[in-house]
Amino acid sequence: MKATLSISGKTKVFGCIADPIDHVRAPSVFNPLFEKYGVDAVMVPLHVSSKNLETVVEGLRAMPNFGGMAVTLPHKLPIMKFCDEIGKQGNLVGAVNFAAFDNNRKLIGDNCDGTGFVNGMLAAGYPVFDKRVLMIGAGGAARAIAFSLADSGVSSLTITNRTSTKADELANSVQAAYPSVAVNAASADPHGFDIIINTTSLGLMPDDDLPLRPDLLEPNQLVAEIIMNPEDTPILKAAKAKGCKIHYGRPMFDHQVSIIAGLFGYDFKM
Ligand code: ATR
Repeated sequence: MKATLSISGKTKVFGCIADPIDHVRAPSVFNPLFEKYGVDAVMVPLHVSSKNLETVVEGLRAMPNFGGMAVTLPHKLPIMKFCDEIGKQGNLVGAVNFAAFDNNRKLIGDNCDGTGFVNGMLAAGYPVFDKRVLMIGAGGAARAIAFSLADSGVSSLTITNRTSTKADELANSVQAAYPSVAVNAASADPHGFDIIINTTSLGLMPDDDLPLRPDLLEPNQLVAEIIMNPEDTPILKAAKAKGCKIHYGRPMFDHQVSIIAGLFGYDFKM
């Protein structure tokens, strides 16, 4: 509420665009950060249906005090056609999760899911460069992470997924974009990998199966998650018990916030 009370005519406005809207988290993340960093800005939820997306984006473009927005379902792909520029990751992934207006009211969109993951790993002391990576899952988050891992120079990337055709398709797309990285689709056997990443939803629910057989993990390996809640997912607990290093899901989110804030023009250290 404090952020609301400090709103004046000079306050810069940002949005979080979605449909449905109730569940979005960005405003409750950004508003405390605006306050913490002494930034005169506010982020509001923008409940926009698909059919009104173009009208709303063009309306926002016409408002000079509107800086940009976090973009979530169902707009991550459709909003791209209203962007004037798309960043490299957004183009590769085929979806954007944030977009900001520049000084000329050009809308610049990009996807920071994967960069957030890679930056979070780096900040925790786990650079992915030259590492052999096994990624479990081939959904939306996996797609973004796969391109960012390749972009960050992993030595190899193996993708495994319940629906193997999706792993094949993603591996082919990443290989085509990054010919110098060895990319393939295979089973979930962690032997021979430096880093194993769970990008599936397995671990969100207490009764979920594990995404891989923990008895196959080796103590020199790092096991990373993208699930934030619960923090200690069953696979992380099992990896810890095997003596592996582990990396939680939270840093990916924090670093995405930092990247989005950067495009909005603010330097928020996470
Ligand atoms: P997100 O956007 O969070 O990545 P998503 O695109 O729905 O979500 O992807 C979910 C991932 O978790 C997929 O890789 C999915 O596997 P399928 O492609 O086979 O659906 C994986 N996943 C979800 N439930 C699973 C389960 N019970 N067992 C194995 N993998 C599962």
